[in-house]
Amino acid sequence: MASHQQTPAPASGTLDVAALRADTPGCRNVVHLNNAGSALPPASVTQAQVDHLRLEEAIGGYEAHARAADRIEGTRASIASLLACRPDQVALMESATSAWARAFAAIAARHRLGPRDRILISGSEYASNALPALQLARHLGVRVDVIPDGTDGTTDAAALQAMLDEDVAVVAVNHCPSQNGLINDVAGIGAAIRASGSPAWYLVDACQSAGQLPLSAADIGADAISATGRKFLRGARGTGFLAVSDRALAELEPFPIDLNGATWEPDGYAVEPSARRFEQWEKSYAAILGLGAAVDYALGCGIEALAQRIDALAARARSGLEQIDGVRVRDRGIRRSGIVTFDHVSVPAEQLVTGIRAAGINVSLSTPEYSRIDFDQHQVTGLVRVSPHAYNTEQEIDTLLSRVSDLLAMPS
Ligand SMILES: Cc1ncc(COP(=O)(O)O)c(C=O)c1O
Repeated sequence: MASHQQTPAPASGTLDVAALRADTPGCRNVVHLNNAGSALPPASVTQAQVDHLRLEEAIGGYEAHARAADRIEGTRASIASLLACRPDQVALMESATSAWARAFAAIAARHRLGPRDRILISGSEYASNALPALQLARHLGVRVDVIPDGTDGTTDAAALQAMLDEDVAVVAVNHCPSQNGLINDVAGIGAAIRASGSPAWYLVDACQSAGQLPLSAADIGADAISATGRKFLRGARGTGFLAVSDRALAELEPFPIDLNGATWEPDGYAVEPSARRFEQWEKSYAAILGLGAAVDYALGCGIEALAQRIDALAARARSGLEQIDGVRVRDRGIRRSGIVTFDHVSVPAEQLVTGIRAAGINVSLSTPEYSRIDFDQHQVTGLVRVSPHAYNTEQEIDTLLSRVSDLLAMPS
């Protein structure tokens, strides 16, 4: 596997938080608890991008691409290591949305989805995954049904299995929703689909889990796994990836395809054999090199070590928040992710977010338009989202908790 690291990553399994922080210039400026939005990148990620932009400036964009070709392909190999899949299953994309949409559109085109077809989505599905399904419902009569949650609040694999019949063309589930700390059992759901013998295509949104939880494409058993670069992977903005199954490689063509995905031949066209077919010709190679540096950094840290530290910081935040009068931690699930969501019985979440940010602490506001079904089902109108990464400290979590307490103690 090619490595793009500009600075050495910490030894696997041993997270040295001081070293992580030293590698992360932004730590000096802010308390960044918005890694589910866009994380602070390590300096090596920025350096990889700047170096390539400088090379483009110096010798020309195509020439710089040719010179960096091995390292660019190394990004694909690094993502394959992250997902325990083959590099030819990986497409380098501009975002999680473009990755997901490319797979979805290929399925819709292949099967000419229409009134006889059903799409099943998780109740916590992200807007940009649900909206294309709703478009097919509005324009082509496809039926969209929501998979119920189980008693623990995660997508219920058994309920899904009972819903699977020959009409179900697509099952779309997110691993970690953006607006809740639950972790869906995407491997269990994949097993349920396989056990049922359903021909449905299985799409997994790993946007919030890539970089914070171990991922195995084989265990999940999805036909498409989509993710972004800028969140827990700490990569460049404008990056993402898609990893596809052998079935997808055998049966799916992106629509529309371009000269990167196919070769124009005298009597038609030949589709690129690998997952590169899902990419378009033009890309930001600087951003891709940044993504490669980020994935290498995460792999160097050890994903399990990252997961444990993120979990510990999130657990600290949850238990501290639960002790503050009137605060309600809204996360569901038995196992929880590094996304902590809460509201207050009377103070609007927006007001809390403004007050927290005013103290130099980056958190975000989750609102219904990001995941309509989830918010409406649970009668939530706004949530404060706190999402630590391994480079955050216990003291930063405590600073957040004090700030929330102080805000709520202020006379309104
Ligand atoms: C769960 C989930 N899926 C998909 C996306 C879309 O990612 P991108 O903005 O990279 O397209 C997000 C972004 O916040 C997300 O949280």
